[in-house]
Amino acid sequence: MGFSKIAVMCAVFVFSFAGLACAHGHHGHKEKEPKTGILLVSFGTSVSEAEKAMENIEAETKKRFSGIPVKWAYTSGIIRHKLSERGEDIASPAQALADMLEEGFNRIAVQSLHVIPGEEYFALLQEVEAFREIAPDARISLGHPLMYSHQDMQKVAGAVMDASKPYLQKGRAVVLMGHGTHHAGNIYYPGLQDYISRRSNSVLVGTVEGAPTLKQVMSDLKTAQEKKVCLMPLMSVAGDHARNDMAGPEDESWKSRMRAEGFDTTSLLKGLGEDDRFVALWLDHLKNALHEVEHH
Ligand code: CO
Repeated sequence: MGFSKIAVMCAVFVFSFAGLACAHGHHGHKEKEPKTGILLVSFGTSVSEAEKAMENIEAETKKRFSGIPVKWAYTSGIIRHKLSERGEDIASPAQALADMLEEGFNRIAVQSLHVIPGEEYFALLQEVEAFREIAPDARISLGHPLMYSHQDMQKVAGAVMDASKPYLQKGRAVVLMGHGTHHAGNIYYPGLQDYISRRSNSVLVGTVEGAPTLKQVMSDLKTAQEKKVCLMPLMSVAGDHARNDMAGPEDESWKSRMRAEGFDTTSLLKGLGEDDRFVALWLDHLKNALHEVEHH
């Protein structure tokens, strides 16, 4: 996977160099008319029901930044491959940026739809930086993921509390399933827990691949004497992880493991991208990214 990805990147870079050199040859170095575009970048999903998160994010983006063209890219090569087998072609971030430059966009605000600044976000940042080198006449910015600054954490904790309220009122604790990572950015999950814990003891954050683990979450629930729980994804889409690892029927799913420990569980299969409270926070970052390309 690493090798083919590098090959695609090289191809895209060579292609872009050729295109830009050509443009210079024909038109000289004359300052071009500004042409602004938005590139939304997600990990992607191959689960059709999860696509409504993307549709909602796109609709909200077009509503808030009307008149600015919106393009998409998925970072996951596996997801793009699965989709292309179904006849749906979604670009990689590098391909999408090369295409947009070819189409004459010279003010491009890229928005990360990631939840934390982890491996995926920093890989995207590197690609954006590479394109800034390749296309020095264009301005390309990158909007922060959902959680980045102290202010973001306060807003996300507030939105989590709002989303949890109906379940808390029914006497259920809420357990959020984050993705989690071996990357240092995993600290944002226990970080979010700290912001939430100042508001409620009945809302807990766990992760599939990092810390806190489900085991830790269950131990905290027992300490707090919570027996009824609502599970919800802390991911932009309710895709494979939410449907299988969280709420699936297999013995290893969070639902099954919690039931085996005596918890009464319900699950909410709704990605953060389907909830306008969270989408608005991503779009605040996009607003900053647009400001950066249009006014600097
Ligand atoms: Co995953």
